[in-house]
Amino acid sequence: MTQVRDILVTSALPYANGPIHIGHLVEYIQTDIWARFQKMRGHNCWYVCADDAHGTPIMLKARAEGISPEALIERVAAEHQADFVAFRVGFDNYHSTHSPENRHFAELIYSRNRDQGHIAQREIEQAYDPVEKMFLPDRFIKGECPKCGAPDQYGDNCEACGASYSPAELKNPRSAVSGAAPEMRRSEHYFFKLADFEPMLRDWTRGGGLQKQVANKLDEWFDAGLQEWDISRDAPYFGFEIPDAPGKFFYVWLDAPIGYMASFQHLCERTPGLEFDHFWAPDSPAEVYHFIGKDIIYFHALFWPAMLTGADFRAPTAVFAHGFLTVDGQKMSKSRGTFIKARTYLDHLNPEYLRYYFAAKLGPGVDDIDLSLEDFQARVNADLVGKIVNIASRTASFIHKRFVGRLAATLPEPALFAEFAAAGESIAAAYDKRELGRAMREIMALADRANQYIDEQAPWVIAKDPSREAELHGVCTQGLNLFRLLIGWLRPVLPGTAEAAEAFLRIAPLTWDALPKPLLDHQVEKFKPLMTRIERSQIDAMLAASRADLAGTPATGAANQPAVASLDPPLADTIDYDSFAQVDLRIARILEASLVEGADKLLRLRLDLGGEERQVFAGIRAAYVPESLTGRLTVMVANLAPRKMRFGVSEGMVLAAGPGGKDIFLLSPDSGAMPGMKVK
Ligand code: 2FM
Ligand code: ZN
Repeated sequence: MTQVRDILVTSALPYANGPIHIGHLVEYIQTDIWARFQKMRGHNCWYVCADDAHGTPIMLKARAEGISPEALIERVAAEHQADFVAFRVGFDNYHSTHSPENRHFAELIYSRNRDQGHIAQREIEQAYDPVEKMFLPDRFIKGECPKCGAPDQYGDNCEACGASYSPAELKNPRSAVSGAAPEMRRSEHYFFKLADFEPMLRDWTRGGGLQKQVANKLDEWFDAGLQEWDISRDAPYFGFEIPDAPGKFFYVWLDAPIGYMASFQHLCERTPGLEFDHFWAPDSPAEVYHFIGKDIIYFHALFWPAMLTGADFRAPTAVFAHGFLTVDGQKMSKSRGTFIKARTYLDHLNPEYLRYYFAAKLGPGVDDIDLSLEDFQARVNADLVGKIVNIASRTASFIHKRFVGRLAATLPEPALFAEFAAAGESIAAAYDKRELGRAMREIMALADRANQYIDEQAPWVIAKDPSREAELHGVCTQGLNLFRLLIGWLRPVLPGTAEAAEAFLRIAPLTWDALPKPLLDHQVEKFKPLMTRIERSQIDAMLAASRADLAGTPATGAANQPAVASLDPPLADTIDYDSFAQVDLRIARILEASLVEGADKLLRLRLDLGGEERQVFAGIRAAYVPESLTGRLTVMVANLAPRKMRFGVSEGMVLAAGPGGKDIFLLSPDSGAMPGMKVK
């Protein structure tokens, strides 16, 4: 055994406003495999993560749901963690950036940088939503593309023609929050002076902690000049208020990576002997690794090491970026059903399949990886079921039936076992370098060898000849020992299957060091199939369920998918007539409209549905004076599930048309329609 290393590993923190999907899982599975491998090697390896809980999208999503941001992030954290547990992503700690530990470190890192002169202050001009009374991030401004005129484009680029531009260039800009035309307003902001750290960053970049493609990208950024980074946001904002700046908050990306430290600190508080400083002091001998998507390199390879250095902490040992996931060669798509939530996958398929498939596809670089569904089915069935599990199923039954579950005392082919065992170091080297695809190929080549051995020996033939009992015992013992090596090497990838195999073999959790010693004269359990084949119908059912359940789920920014700052769930490409027919549209008379305290854009409406009264909150305050609505007719969705909002329960929805803000029009001028009438 080589020297024991102290290793801290992280994956990017998922935003707390949406579900984990298979795009996220590339990273969590990659990191988890690597961390499990290091643990199996006997190193002190700690894998931590947290929910990324702050920022405007989370604040607005909570508002749209009529709940507090705290309630939203609590619910999402529980969902995320349930998904991770089911996928066997074995965090040693999972925390939140909205935590006392994170506040402590965010304030500490900020104030140390400030005291060293690395923070600047100046006024900037920004788009402001006069209805919502908030500054608008670029992604919350929509309008017509300045190049091609496509309507409804976000403030940074056009999805129709691909042009990039600044929000100021959009024609007819509108706030995506209220629909109001944004105004330009000035406000004081705080900036991190990244250029102060250029010498340190140039050294760090060349220090071997970055992949070649990433280091090249950094060179481009150095050449372009390191810009000051805006680390503050104005209220209203869900985050931490800057200690010496009331009404100003740390930008979510300031405290997000600090969440790595906060989660680790939270772990240290509950783990005797685990010392925070041992890992984070400037001269720390420990190793710190961040696994991330290639879209967030700038934050992790520039801002983060610089902020840490400015606050007298160590910089990461390395940052490992990976590419994006495509499905069948294309971006994940809701209409094709390939935008697959972790939970939807789990409803149909074994998580170990996906862990194996990603491992087989992953290398140490930043290339995108493709989940080809046909290849996924074929490879899992051929490799895991056809090769690995098959070795055990072809030999274990004889051990059980003919030798009362006891393995032979010697191996008939010790040289073959030794040859296998010797491959362990090369497989370990591949894992360590994140060459997971290579590790899987080496393991599967050995699985082919093991199957070849069993084919040649044909224990089912030997079994027919009572005089060859000892031979049968030897061959099956040999087969199960080769199986034990293979499943041991696959353990970081297939923790569930390995655990079941260990229970079958009645052995302690396998470690790399324990593997080369064969299991002899040892009692095993009756063999139960460790894994079943994937059927195409399972994949099809998963795609159908994804099409159905994602029609109503907002797309959220994620480590490996572009952020979509949409307030409303994305529209399904089409809905069928039956779904439409389920919407109960009725004429309603507005009995009374009143202002809602604490909600600038809402009106409380009392509606008469032809004898039945309903309360509905409608975002039409900018368009109507409440009194002017009394007695008017409108169309409402009468069978919308009641929604609890901060101000009360909303029992339906009124329909209105228009671009938003002042220009929203309710139906309908009195035209003989009667309250309660169905709208056809
Ligand atoms: O891009 C994202 O999904 C971010 N939530 C990742 C944050 S990683 C770290 F810095 F916290
Ligand atoms: Zn365009």
